Amino acid sequence: MKNEKLAQILEQAKLDIEASKTSEDIANCRNKYLAKKSELSAMSSLIGSLPPEERKDFGAEVFQTKSQISSLIEEKAKDLQAQELAAKLAKETIDISLPGRSLTPGGKNPFHVVKDEMIDIFLGMGFTVADGPEVETDKYNFELLNIPQDHPARDMQDTFYINDTELLRTHTSPVQAHTMEKAVGKPIRIICPGKTYRRDDDDATHSHQFAQIEGLVVDKGINIGHLKATLELFAKKMFGEKREIRLRSSYFPFTEPSVEVDINCANCGGKGCNMCKGTGYIEILGGGMVHPNVLTMNGYDAEEYSGFAFGIGIERVAILRYGIDDIRRFYQNDVRFLHQFRKKA
Ligand code: PHE
Repeated sequence: MKNEKLAQILEQAKLDIEASKTSEDIANCRNKYLAKKSELSAMSSLIGSLPPEERKDFGAEVFQTKSQISSLIEEKAKDLQAQELAAKLAKETIDISLPGRSLTPGGKNPFHVVKDEMIDIFLGMGFTVADGPEVETDKYNFELLNIPQDHPARDMQDTFYINDTELLRTHTSPVQAHTMEKAVGKPIRIICPGKTYRRDDDDATHSHQFAQIEGLVVDKGINIGHLKATLELFAKKMFGEKREIRLRSSYFPFTEPSVEVDINCANCGGKGCNMCKGTGYIEILGGGMVHPNVLTMNGYDAEEYSGFAFGIGIERVAILRYGIDDIRRFYQNDVRFLHQFRKKA
């Protein structure tokens, strides 16, 4: 190169480009050597002022220098960009060998699945849902149900007393008395799902807290055929068309006659197996015709009105429905258990 100034610029540019460590450095080089205010631009504007015989060579030299610097800069810029991208990628690497944090959707506890289904079945038969307190008085839990003080039937339902007159209800039956009291002699058709409590040693089949659905129908001309038909329909809807029920005579102070209702065993079809303890049937509920004393005590004329009542253990139904091995699983909230009942999307 003949022009010394141009040679110097080129040398300096090479050094600066070489020394550039970042895209920003190289952008500075671009600015310094190629922008309008650069020395090189100043030199190209000299071209016009030169005598014509020098113009061509000098012009060519300026152009050559400029394009050399430009290509060195672009080459370096590309390298730096690639380096920077590689560094960024390395920094942002996601360790895909780590298990992700998944958001698992929740689902209903099988207890509630079954409870809601039971309620739906009875709503479909024209029942409405009634409610009552879990902390009851002795009067509603026992006396108005024909279980006076010192009645031996009290022993069947060992109780959590709060004081002499208040206790945690041992069954949902006190809602019968509350409902009759409110209905003041009018027809009734209610169910009441709710928690109940009995002093018990917890094990696979016993829990000090469990739940029942109470049913009560009071009207003129109600007979045991209505009770049987209602429970039969319930059993078929809950457990399948092929299921049959059996009424066994039993005893509750607040119903007369009283029955215990069994359903034929789904496991063996009635032949007898481990699940039904060889009997072919499994007990699912207690019920009966409302005792005339209960009707009278709660404001009904027992000559004119009659009724039936039943109490179904909700966990019991859920256990039979799903083949669950331990009643405590409903309350422990172990997700490994609960996930098995999650509705598939
Ligand atoms: N309350 C009874 C129990 O808990 C069940 C029942 C309800 C029986 C209604 C008859 C009528 O065992």
